[in-house]
Amino acid sequence: MGTVELKKGVYWVGAIDWNVRDFHGYSTPSGTTYNAYLIQGEKNVLVDTVKVPFSTELLERISEIMDPAKIDYVIANHAENDHSGSLPQIVDRIGNPVVITTERGKKGLDRYFGRPFNYRIVKSGETLPLGDRTLTFLEAPMLHWPDSMFTYLVEDKILLPNDAFGQHLATLERFEDEVGDAVMKHAAKYYANILWPLAPLILKKVDEVVKLGIPIDMIGPSHGLVWRKDPGRIIQSYVEWSQGKTKKKVLVIYDTMWGCTEHLAKAILKGVSEDGSEAKLLHLRTNHRSDIVEEMLDAKGILLGSPTLNNGMFPSMGDFLTYVKGLRPIGKVFGLFESYGWGGGALKEMKKQLEEAKLELWDKELRVQFHPDADEIRRAVQFGRDFARKLL
Ligand code: FEO
Repeated sequence: MGTVELKKGVYWVGAIDWNVRDFHGYSTPSGTTYNAYLIQGEKNVLVDTVKVPFSTELLERISEIMDPAKIDYVIANHAENDHSGSLPQIVDRIGNPVVITTERGKKGLDRYFGRPFNYRIVKSGETLPLGDRTLTFLEAPMLHWPDSMFTYLVEDKILLPNDAFGQHLATLERFEDEVGDAVMKHAAKYYANILWPLAPLILKKVDEVVKLGIPIDMIGPSHGLVWRKDPGRIIQSYVEWSQGKTKKKVLVIYDTMWGCTEHLAKAILKGVSEDGSEAKLLHLRTNHRSDIVEEMLDAKGILLGSPTLNNGMFPSMGDFLTYVKGLRPIGKVFGLFESYGWGGGALKEMKKQLEEAKLELWDKELRVQFHPDADEIRRAVQFGRDFARKLL
């Protein structure tokens, strides 16, 4: 596919990565895009580049519109390599454009590339007059890295916030209204796996943007589709996700060695669902951790079950909890159950992980030795029932 014009003189010139299936531990079954935007006018500006293997694709798209040598400014909103990876190739092809970034962005780029660029360092609120247009920069530390920055096209009312509001989705469509509601599932997974730990900063940044009173017609993130029809929808969703808005939904997340923990998990699920709560059973080696985390986003209760292996939790549970700890999913209640043979230990280890992460723990626990008998299955159903009631 070729370039796409967002508004007169503002183009998408990025790259589509149809084949990426793992994005630093996040499963991307639908691929992704690396979005770069070209602003053509009295002065020409490229906003962000793409991952290195796609630098030729980026240059080809720019060349469909204009000679890349005519670009005056390259904006590096974020130093991470999926957006700045092609900076050396692009800068060398253009000549010696001014590279606009934050102080921290320069630090990152210096470390990555070990070569100088013709930098202009900007701070929040600074503007860049382009003659027929104005750009305003807004530093957005931790969205996604300390160096991150948003670029706002004042006259066009387009916000280019880099990683914020993105989705990992490779498609020929470029706008969210061309895909419909399906986009929200991709946006939720992206938020849960990338931005969830930054929820307090997101609320602060949204508040700051609202107070600035800047009108936003479009949001062009650095991954996935451009929010054109209703940019307010994704902003509102970010606010709700960051506030920890949940529904009465319970996940029973488990692994099993000989089927005992699975027996308990299914009985617990039965108890949870009796009062009509939405409930899901998620086996840790069948579901990717990043898909489970997406399910967690709007769930109020999480029940974790593990068999005991070598006096500790099952390795898949260790992997999952290590991942979850970093995401800091506050506002949820966690409950624990284990099965064990000769000696326990899984529950103790899971509890330690959750306490270290300062997550809310239900004080009731379920431990069963060997294969659960009929009475223990009844206890497991009651355990699920009690957990669902607690969430009311
Ligand atoms: Fe899409 Fe933080 O890079």
